[in-house]
Amino acid sequence: MEILIFESAEKLAAHAALLIAACVNEKPYAVLGLATGSTPVETYQALIAISKMGQVDFSKVTSINLDEYVGLSVEDEQSYARFMKDNLFDSINISPTNTHIPNGKAKNPLLECHRYDALIVEKGGIDLQILGIGPNGHIAFNEPCDYFPMTSHLVDLSEETIQANARFFESRDEVPRQALTMGTGQIFKAKKILLLASDESKAEAVTSALLGPVTPMCPASILQLHSNVTFLLDSSAASGILEAPGVYYKEVH
Ligand code: GLP
Repeated sequence: MEILIFESAEKLAAHAALLIAACVNEKPYAVLGLATGSTPVETYQALIAISKMGQVDFSKVTSINLDEYVGLSVEDEQSYARFMKDNLFDSINISPTNTHIPNGKAKNPLLECHRYDALIVEKGGIDLQILGIGPNGHIAFNEPCDYFPMTSHLVDLSEETIQANARFFESRDEVPRQALTMGTGQIFKAKKILLLASDESKAEAVTSALLGPVTPMCPASILQLHSNVTFLLDSSAASGILEAPGVYYKEVH
């Protein structure tokens, strides 16, 4: 476990983008696990800038996204499929056929989850997984519950998540109540994981994930057991761990 703390979200994003580009440069056929939400937006912008300078080539990369809202497709502005196109895919040279996101419009969500599980296996698993964290400690849409889901599944979003994500929709009522998400187990199998968190609103979740018990009530806490995970935090998101005894972190300037 490595913890890096940055003085600003901008510096965090620049560093995260360099790590992603380095992964692709080392392994041109890398499988990237990608996340949505407001946190990775600046990282994707920094990655686009690196790409435009010709310092990374995505032509052979495969991407596998974490999750999608049930009922939304790429035509819907709030879908994660659309988010990825607008915030990354349309601005880099990744082949659209190599980008994968659960189909939120699938008639049979269970079959779609099986398809997604098989896809992850077929691609050889995830080399580098990018994660955000929900204010309730969720990763992807693995909500706090009494077990760690191993595989892709249909999930009922918690009230807290619906509230937190309402800012992306016209009103709270428009937030889908369900999603398809990769399981915690699949995320855990990624060879390397970068968890990005910025802003004070994430401080409690980050503190629980890093210092609390490993429990599915805080899904991100499972990362304490992963052998190659880096938390990239801005100083606000890190505020709950700075004084904690026995926590080793590096401040990056
Ligand atoms: C969503 C996504 C997560 C993301 C989280 C935090 O619910 N499913 O993958 O990490 O929200 O998002 P944000 O970065 O907008 O706070």
